[in-house]
Amino acid sequence: MMGIGANWYRKSLLTITGIPLVEKLSTTYGKRLAGKFIAGETLEDALKVTEALGKLGIMATLDHLGEGIRDISEAEAYKEQYLKLIEGIASCKSKSNVSLKPTQMGLALDQAACYANIRDVVKHARRHRNFVRIDMENTPYTQATIDIVKRLHAEGLTNAGTVLQAYLFRTEQDTKDMLQARINLRLVKGAYKESDEVAYQKTDEVIASFKSMIKLHLDNRVYTAIASHDDAIISWVKAYARTHRIPKQAFEFQMLYGLRMNEQAKLAKEGYRIRCYVPYGSMWYPYFTRRLAEKPSNLMLVLKNMSALKKDSPK
Ligand code: FDA
Repeated sequence: MMGIGANWYRKSLLTITGIPLVEKLSTTYGKRLAGKFIAGETLEDALKVTEALGKLGIMATLDHLGEGIRDISEAEAYKEQYLKLIEGIASCKSKSNVSLKPTQMGLALDQAACYANIRDVVKHARRHRNFVRIDMENTPYTQATIDIVKRLHAEGLTNAGTVLQAYLFRTEQDTKDMLQARINLRLVKGAYKESDEVAYQKTDEVIASFKSMIKLHLDNRVYTAIASHDDAIISWVKAYARTHRIPKQAFEFQMLYGLRMNEQAKLAKEGYRIRCYVPYGSMWYPYFTRRLAEKPSNLMLVLKNMSALKKDSPK
């Protein structure tokens, strides 16, 4: 999304989606529509999707949906789901890793328990030669998330990485620090509503920051994941890599399940590494609303289908 209008749209939607009435409407009508962005409710659903993606040469990262839990025992249950997910991936030999959210593992409730949960998942992944991506949430959790990943690496668990968001002012320094520690990163623009005290608000500033993070990684030959659906960014990365003789294996593109699937298949055909972020599970609402906030056409799709759903939804 470009320009002031796009930013206004994103911020407004991220604001109204916290309102109970909007949440009620979305949960009533949105579940079936959310299927556009979510692989299904079960692990089997998700693994079927990764199999289909694999046939197109697209790798996956699987996210068992859940964030902002209210009781630490829920984190334990999510951890168990991730252990099963890692085994599921191993059993079907799909080219997939996993992505998880720190608040899902208890970060907002009990930092020590959260670390122990994440460490268990990362250790289990290491036993199965797999990798864990720790997604980046909003700014109350930025430093804690970075600390978790650094601590894992200090313990020798280098099969964990995280995400840096181009819209944050602090990211320039974080990128340099994480590069030095050679921590595997996914680079994104940033999906949350953040204030002008901590984050760039203008699209061109976010893009300039995004390009500078990407450049730093490619120049230093540190394997990185560039997660964006933005054609301008994708073309720029391809051209930069070509000009600087950076091999296609030195980085990967990432996109979300349900978005630009043809473009994902095209990148695979062109020989680029491309990974699809595949969420599954029943806690789809916050993930779904962030997708709506990113692009007016995603919201239009929902509104267009609302009347059809009203007709056949249970009273
Ligand atoms: P953006 O929405 O800025 O759109 C820019 C342009 O791209 C559009 O104008 C259009 O031309 C094109 N475009 C975008 N979507 C399109 C579509 N569906 N069809 C056609 N054209 C389209 N954020 C975060 O804060 N923490 C995280 O951990 C993650 N993790 C993550 C993983 C993955 C795999 C992805 C792809 C993204 C994330 N994000 C994230 C989200 C990220 O921060 C950002 O909000 C979204 O990717 C939206 O930014 P884009 O660059 O994709 O396009």
